[in-house]
Amino acid sequence: MTHPQHRSTWSSRWAFMLATAGSAIGLGNIWKLPYMIGVNGGSAFVLVFLACIFLVGIPLMMCETMLGRRAQRNPVDGMQALAQEAGTSKAWRWVGISGLFAGLLILGFYSIIAGWVLDYIVRAAGGEFTGIDGAGATAKFETFLGQPLRLLLWHSLFIAMTLGVVSRGVNAGLEKANNILIPALFAILLVLVGYSMAVGDFARSVVFMFTPDFSRITPVAILSALGHAFFSLSLGMGAVMVYGSYLQRHVSITRATMIIAVADTSVGLLVGLAIFALVFANHLEPAAGPGLIFQTLPIAFGSMPWGDVIGTLFFLLVAFAAWTSAISLVEPAVAWLTENTRLTRKQSALLIGVGDWLLGIAVLLSFNAWQDVRLVFGLGIFDTLDKLTSTIMLPLGGLAMALFAGYFMKTRQVQEELGLGPSGYGFWRFLVRYVAPVAIVAVFLYLLGIIQG
Ligand code: PHE
Repeated sequence: MTHPQHRSTWSSRWAFMLATAGSAIGLGNIWKLPYMIGVNGGSAFVLVFLACIFLVGIPLMMCETMLGRRAQRNPVDGMQALAQEAGTSKAWRWVGISGLFAGLLILGFYSIIAGWVLDYIVRAAGGEFTGIDGAGATAKFETFLGQPLRLLLWHSLFIAMTLGVVSRGVNAGLEKANNILIPALFAILLVLVGYSMAVGDFARSVVFMFTPDFSRITPVAILSALGHAFFSLSLGMGAVMVYGSYLQRHVSITRATMIIAVADTSVGLLVGLAIFALVFANHLEPAAGPGLIFQTLPIAFGSMPWGDVIGTLFFLLVAFAAWTSAISLVEPAVAWLTENTRLTRKQSALLIGVGDWLLGIAVLLSFNAWQDVRLVFGLGIFDTLDKLTSTIMLPLGGLAMALFAGYFMKTRQVQEELGLGPSGYGFWRFLVRYVAPVAIVAVFLYLLGIIQG
């Protein structure tokens, strides 16, 4: 395959790994995984989640990175070039197009939650949680959601932060931001875990998360764990593909993706351990649901030594995680615009930024003025975007990529990128051809309500 000239590449293997880990580690790990563990009964869910990461997540991440590096193009032109190379229909470019839109739609609501996080950094730093009780924390959160201008301020800032990085390009933007933010994120995580070991009920948290209780493994737990494994590793929308397209040829995709997946999963589990240690020490409810970090945790911070400092650090950690993920949500679209139109990268980023800023306004209004607006299936604006992307577009995108790599690409083409031994390749191919598609279709049908767990 001929490759476009003058395309940026990561300056090292590390740059790729930090950026892709940055994409993977996000609100999904810190906001969603802990509350899903809480709601689904702890350890049983953790076990299934780990199995899903290893059996479906890692093979698919290898697959997506492989597609990107082979194509050396944005996901739309990349899928088209790969389809031509494999001698099949150009229609595969629709996988890229759908992924590109999925990224833009996800940022529309991701930015709003990230905005809440930014607001909570300031609140924690200002000592607003000191002595707060459950009713106080809930009232604070609900009042906040009823203030469109305040939400708008944070949403605007977050969009500017995200597109600001992307506009600087692969090396001066994406790579530099991740080189700073991801190590900072890990440093804060260490402090947080250390603190929760010292002050929280860490032992109980470990028991809660890691004592296997097989009786609680239900079909619902399995399917939601798989869906989340997918979202958590940023699979199915071209983020990993576009990052893979900037990867130098000599880097081992297998090694790099395994390290990234393990890092992503470990961060989710460590944050979970820390959060539950604080929750248990304060006799709070682990199954609190989506409000866990905004309504339950502030109560813990408000009553513990150094709670203001730790609370501030915690929300800073979440903000860094969300920021590095958001960058990867828009990069496919910005790369496509820069590679296909006369717009410069800066202009492309501005265009996408304005579009997502407008979309976000509709989302933030759905928490107050437009609370009663229903789009499809009786869902509000926020829920429609969330469900449409994470339950339909991402799984379909991942399925298409798995089928393309598993059934349409020639062994030689795949192996030029993956370079696995014969048994390793056979195993990977089995997972991508059979295990991943069956699992994705099952989740897909379940989430659409066709199979009721
Ligand atoms: N993986 C990110 C998270 O866990 C979300 C994400 C999904 C980012 C898809 C990019 C693409 O929050």
